Amino acid sequence: MELLNRPRRLRKSPVIRDMVRETRVSKKSLVYPLFIKEGSGIVEPIPSLEGQFRYSPDKLYLALEQVQKAGVPAVLLFGLPEKKDACGSSAWDSKGPVQEALRIGKRDFPDIYFITDVCMCEYTSHGHCGILNGETVDNDKTLEVLAKTALSHASAGADMVAPSDMMDGRVLAIRQALDREGFQDTPILSYAVKFASTFYAPFRDAAGSAPAFGDRKGYQMDYHNPKEAIREAALDIEQGADLLMVKPALAYLDIIRLIKSKFDLPLATYSVSGEYAMMKAAVKAGLLDEASLVCESALAMYRAGADILITYYAKELAQWMDEGRIG
Ligand code: PBG
Repeated sequence: MELLNRPRRLRKSPVIRDMVRETRVSKKSLVYPLFIKEGSGIVEPIPSLEGQFRYSPDKLYLALEQVQKAGVPAVLLFGLPEKKDACGSSAWDSKGPVQEALRIGKRDFPDIYFITDVCMCEYTSHGHCGILNGETVDNDKTLEVLAKTALSHASAGADMVAPSDMMDGRVLAIRQALDREGFQDTPILSYAVKFASTFYAPFRDAAGSAPAFGDRKGYQMDYHNPKEAIREAALDIEQGADLLMVKPALAYLDIIRLIKSKFDLPLATYSVSGEYAMMKAAVKAGLLDEASLVCESALAMYRAGADILITYYAKELAQWMDEGRIG
């Protein structure tokens, strides 16, 4: 048969398939989220996130050793304080769990890059991401506490801060607070495009941060809105964001592609707790092969345009990348 174009020629062997790959990935782009619980001697499995643990600062080395061994370069820290109040004041306590973890982590693992999540929901008694005025979150009052929190993370050694609260103007407020205190060189990874998503539910169990009433739709984005995603990203860039994030990842590949095509900042995406839990459940049910499922899904995120991937599967992905399953 006369057929000039035969795409199968380039699929003939692993060597040629590898050579013509259009998407290259590297474990240097992986970030592993970690939950730090106030106290000591704690290594506690998280029921909603099989295979993930809460660590007290003194036990965090157990996780960091694994991260280092896997060749994952960065971690993203979330804090679980003992005491919560209406304005989340333990968020900027210099002896808080994240701050302690940073001091110990930076001292004992200087090669690991420490990013901190800056938000109030883990620290407020009502579980909302800021200070309440009646039943709504007061944007401008919240900016002050976010700035204080980011500053306290930077002072404790954070390499990068990542605000996830979705208040308007928070990148500027944080940038100004950091600059005032001499942290001009601490970058801000903005959760610029963060949707109000059902996929965060297992995280809220892990972090004890579910809102006591209502939901987060008054501040996180409506998932019907791609044009608003562009506006959100543009606003954060104007305010000094160094990197952008789209979150969640798997159900938002179109948004990753859109933001990547419109802006030239490095782009992160967060494959969130619900994505991880869903995959774990499918694997546990014997329906899908874990490595194949995770690799194919992660590759889709990179193919869509992500430069950085935040995932609970970071250590496993690093290994699968080493083995050439994706790469
Ligand atoms: C804090 C925050 C959340 C996540 C990251 N930072 C929860 C939320 O917005 O309710 C979710 C991460 C995940 O689901 O893995 N605001």
